[in-house]
Amino acid sequence: MPAPAENVPPHVAIIMDGNGRWAKQRGLPRIEGHRRGVETVRTTTFAARDLGVRMLTLYAFSIENWKRPQEEVGALMTLLEYYLKKELETFVRDRVRLRTIGRTEELPAGVQKMLRTTMEETKHFNDYTLVLALNYGSRTEVVDAARSYAAAVAAGKEKLNDSSWGTFSRYLSTGDMPDPDLVIRTSGETRISNFLLLQAAYAEFVFMPVLWPDFTKADLSTAIAEYNRRERRFGLTSEQLKPAAAK
Ligand code: IPE
Ligand code: IPE
Ligand code: MG
Repeated sequence: MPAPAENVPPHVAIIMDGNGRWAKQRGLPRIEGHRRGVETVRTTTFAARDLGVRMLTLYAFSIENWKRPQEEVGALMTLLEYYLKKELETFVRDRVRLRTIGRTEELPAGVQKMLRTTMEETKHFNDYTLVLALNYGSRTEVVDAARSYAAAVAAGKEKLNDSSWGTFSRYLSTGDMPDPDLVIRTSGETRISNFLLLQAAYAEFVFMPVLWPDFTKADLSTAIAEYNRRERRFGLTSEQLKPAAAK
């Protein structure tokens, strides 16, 4: 059952995991799992919007993933380019804004070109945004941000004495994006794997056993329902959040 609209987390982030195991269970090559995973990216993009989510961030390729066998990395990049080529029209038609986080400048030229084109053609849409985390890793992101921030201080654009999370966080790859409210990880693993470490400081986490290629709109609804059962306290007491109920 879908959660009531007012409690839908505006920004959902997903660690899409389990493609390899999905394939292995079927005696298929890992890349088949990734192919099926791309189908799930498609369905989840629209499922999230149907449920009232405003921003969906998908962890598609981590900096650490370059260490996988060259064959798998190559196949993932080919798949990514193919996906972007196929989705461009759909994003424009269905008003999905595409953004990215991560060191996209290190991705193959063909992927970068498709990303630029798609982001340019969808930049005016502001109802719903799909953020792809590509060549992303929080630790590298922080180091890159610290470097840019230091350069801005040296150039007199920022004042060291005015440093705050508000000013520094704008130098992160996520820039002006809102923090994720709900982070979902599929495949049963209960770790963060260098994903949005700082941005998820107050996110709710839901870990699900389902392998990413099998993830459905119903699973997303289940995660949102779980999110609705949580009380986000942000350091306050429960009584402070619900003064009437405490009496
Ligand atoms: C997630 O599935 C996709 C990427 C990390 C690119 P995996 O490929 O990690 O699948 P498992 O964890 O091996 O099952
Ligand atoms: C995290 O999954 C990265 C992505 C989903 C893109 P991994 O499968 O790479 O993470 P670990 O290695 O199990 O921590
Ligand atoms: Mg994995």
